[in-house]
Amino acid sequence: MKQHLNFLSLLGFSLITSLCTPAFAQVPAKAESCFACHGPNGNSAMQETPSLAAQNARYIYLQLRDFQEGRRSNPMMTPMAAGLTRDEMRELGNYFSQQTLTDKKFKADPEKAKLGFAKADETLCAMCHLGEFRGQNEIPKVAGQNYDYIVKTLHAFKDKTRTNDAGNMTSVASTLSDQDIENLGHYIAGLSK
Ligand code: HEC
Ligand code: HEC
Repeated sequence: MKQHLNFLSLLGFSLITSLCTPAFAQVPAKAESCFACHGPNGNSAMQETPSLAAQNARYIYLQLRDFQEGRRSNPMMTPMAAGLTRDEMRELGNYFSQQTLTDKKFKADPEKAKLGFAKADETLCAMCHLGEFRGQNEIPKVAGQNYDYIVKTLHAFKDKTRTNDAGNMTSVASTLSDQDIENLGHYIAGLSK
């Protein structure tokens, strides 16, 4: 009986490995260590940790460099960027940019989302982030990002505790009230993908 079970689990194991080998082969070695916080394939369930799935490769690369060189800092993330080579950063950026951002099922408050949309329109966020915050090159996609992370980050730009943005976001955020930030969070986190 025991042998029988061992045989079955061995069969199961080899089936799983043979099925998964092609997919695993494309995952950069270091990516596995990112999943603990950023979630499987970069879909983070930790609300203050951003999802990386479908984020722009160039933006990911630049942020990793900024963390490594101390222009951006976070007690959880800074040590993770410390040992990466430039090639590994590029590989990780390419990998996460190709993953699918899954639906977080964020329940936006319709009234706040409406006000957030109006604020985004008035402040011309789309001038840089493009329509519906889909992002471009070094300008991040924010659509569908975790609500708590968006709100925390807009406050960090406003308070100038995050300053690696060449002044783009710190000047925009200085015009936003706490209520604007909450409304923008509802609008942007509620955008699909
Ligand atoms: C211990 C938890 C943890 C691990 C492991 C981790 N990160 Fe992070 N990461 C964070 C947190 C928290 C933030 C948000 C920092 C902030 O608020 O400024 C972050 C931010 C980032 C950002 C910036 C994203 C954005 O939208 O601005 C990138 C890129 C990133 N991490 C890549 C990685 C990669 C690649 C790995 C694996 C090599 C990794 N992280 C491992 C916690 C982690
Ligand atoms: C002048 C161009 C510009 C405008 C206008 C702008 N942004 Fe940004 N935004 C950027 C850039 C560039 C970054 C990335 C900064 C960096 O490299 O760290 C960014 C980053 C962000 C982030 C952080 C995303 C992340 O993953 O960490 C959020 C959130 C954000 N912007 C929201 C907004 C909102 C909301 C508006 C309008 C109220 C806005 N932005 C207007 C250029 C802009």
